[in-house]
This record gives sequence, structure tokens and C-alpha cells, in this order.
Amino acid sequence: MTNNSTLSFPLLDGTRIPWLGWGNGTGDASKTAIESGKLALENGIHHLDTAQNYNNEQETGEAIRQSSIPREEVYVTSKLSGLPRRVHVPFDEIRSSIQGSLDKLGLIPNLYLIHSPYVAERGNLKAVWQILENLKDEGKLHSIGVSNFRPQDLEAILDGAKYKPVVNQIEYHPYVLTHLEPLLALHKQHGILTQSFGALTPLLRHPTGGPLKPILERIAARIAQDTGKPIDAAIVLLLWTRAQGVCVVTASGNPERIKRLGEVAVMPDLLTEDEVDEISRVGRGIQFRYYNGQMEEDFPLPDLPSQ
Ligand SMILES: NC(=O)c1ccc[n+]([C@@H]2O[C@H](COP(=O)([O-])OP(=O)(O)OC[C@H]3O[C@@H](n4cnc5c(N)ncnc54)[C@H](OP(=O)(O)O)[C@@H]3O)[C@@H](O)[C@H]2O)c1
Repeated sequence: MTNNSTLSFPLLDGTRIPWLGWGNGTGDASKTAIESGKLALENGIHHLDTAQNYNNEQETGEAIRQSSIPREEVYVTSKLSGLPRRVHVPFDEIRSSIQGSLDKLGLIPNLYLIHSPYVAERGNLKAVWQILENLKDEGKLHSIGVSNFRPQDLEAILDGAKYKPVVNQIEYHPYVLTHLEPLLALHKQHGILTQSFGALTPLLRHPTGGPLKPILERIAARIAQDTGKPIDAAIVLLLWTRAQGVCVVTASGNPERIKRLGEVAVMPDLLTEDEVDEISRVGRGIQFRYYNGQMEEDFPLPDLPSQ
């Protein structure tokens, strides 16, 4: 894992996280967690993201063990999910559920997240967070954080917390920027790193790509011409996300794309400040979320078009 300051982000607890991660929760990546995970590792992506409900924690550990990359050079994240989705984990089973993650992985992950506020029974979020804090104190977990937390969820656990979550992993891309403003302000106030999933949503999941698509393509063509590198609009979006100071978890089960992501993982900043600002400004005018679950409950949406 590189400690180069542009290729990893510092976390509140003094550790660092590589800016680009390969997740095995979506698409073909989830079905080929061992071989694609190994390919990702051996092509320079030393950051794997899994979760209980991806049903491949064991394969994630196996990908590392079968690769030529030593465990200590790999950053691993897993999550307390509750199964199935949106069913809380009974409070007295939280510890054993987390231990189940560690047993399947065969290692202690660098980062362990509460996958969603709905993992906790109503009113119990702080108590669940305290279990993670205790496990950290006992040396059974290392860095701890959260995912899909709205402002009110963060506030619930921050109140008197022994440890603040080091990250909040959320759907993050230009088309949710306006909605996320209060949440991002809270992250900034507390030093919580924003971690993005669904970063490619404007290009891959928005029905037309919206107003950003031609802008991203124009910037990609400009960089390709200037550098001679095969840069596409998806890479521009990933580099924009890093330029926001946001860590990215992307995914792929496609060997060629995995190799390309390995190149992206070590790319310098190729966007100009004006290009970064243009993407943000245009993105702020659109509201489009793909993973539209709990993040929109009791967290009002801005009155913006989706196209
Ligand atoms: N915490 C949470 O609740 C949560 C939710 C969702 C995701 N995640 C994590 O984040 C990871 C990434 O999530 P995501 O899939 O939403 O990320 P993403 O970066 O938005 O999308 C990745 C997907 O895009 C496809 N893709 C990439 N480049 C492409 C291209 N040029 N053309 C067509 N398809 C392309 C990949 O398919 P190919 O396999 O074909 O390359 C892959 O399935 C997950 O695996 C998981 O680890 C977390």
C-alpha cells in the first residue's frame, strides 16, 4: 500500500486508506470475488471492500491469501449488514455477528462499518456503535466507521462517542451533491472521510447520462490528447471524486477494466481546477440517486430536476 499523500487519505484515528478500492458487492465482481479480487490486487488495487450481505467475505480473504500481495499491504473493509436487507441484527447477536465476519475473512479487516442505520433496532444505534467501540478497545477491530448514515444517524452516535466513525460510505457522485450538503458539512465538521460508492452512476445508471455526460466526454478527450493515455469519461468521474477529497469504492468483474482501474489507482491529478469545478457545478443542478433506499427517508430531497 502506498503512503504517497495523493494516493491515500488520512483517517481520524491516524491510519490511512488508499483512495481507490475494489468492491465485490455488485455486478460480476460479486460472483467472481476470488479471481477478480486477486486480479485487482495483483494489478495495484490494494484495497478490497466487502460486507456480510455480499456473501463473499470468505472469498475476499481467499483472494488475498491466493494473491502474491502480502496481507499487510492490503486494506480490507467489511460491514455489519444484517440479513436480509433492512432487517436489524438482534442486539444480543451483534458481537457474534461481527465475530462471524472475522472468522469468514480469516483476518481482522482494517476497517469495519455499520452497513446501514437499519442494522440497529430503532433507538439502538448508539448502543450498536458502542459495541464497535468496545471491540476496537479489545483489539478485535481496528478502524471503525459507518455507511448510509444520514445527518440524524451520525448525530445519534457522535453524541458522547469515545471514537468518531472514520468514514461514512455513501452513494456519492455529482448528481447527489446538493442533497448531501448538510451531511457533507457534518463530515467536515468532525473530520469524517466521505467514501463513495456508485461513483459512476451519472454515466452508467442515469437514463441518459444527463448534462454531465458530454462534459465528462469532452474532458476525457482533452486529457487523452494531452497525455496520450486512454482516458474515458468513467475515469474522469473517478478522478473528480478523488479531487473532492473523497475516497472511492468502485467494482468490476471485467479483467480489462480491472487492469485499467489498477492504472487509475496510481494516476496523478489530471483534471484542471476549472474542470473539477464545472463537474461539481453542473452536478449540483440535478438530483438523481440510484441506490434510493434509506438515504431519502426523513432527509428531504432538494427540488431539482433528474435530467
Ligand atoms: N455501503 C453500501 O451500501 C454500498 C452500496 C453499493 C455498493 N457498495 C460498494 O461499492 C462497490 C461499487 O459499487 P458500484 O457498483 O455502485 O460502483 P460504480 O463504480 O458506480 O460501478 C461499478 C460497476 O460499473 C461497471 N462499469 C465500470 N466501468 C464501466 C464501463 N466503462 N462501462 C460499463 N460498465 C462499467 C462495472 O461493471 P463490470 O463488472 O462490467 O466492469 C461495475 O459493475 C460495491 O461492489 C460495494 O463494494 C456499497
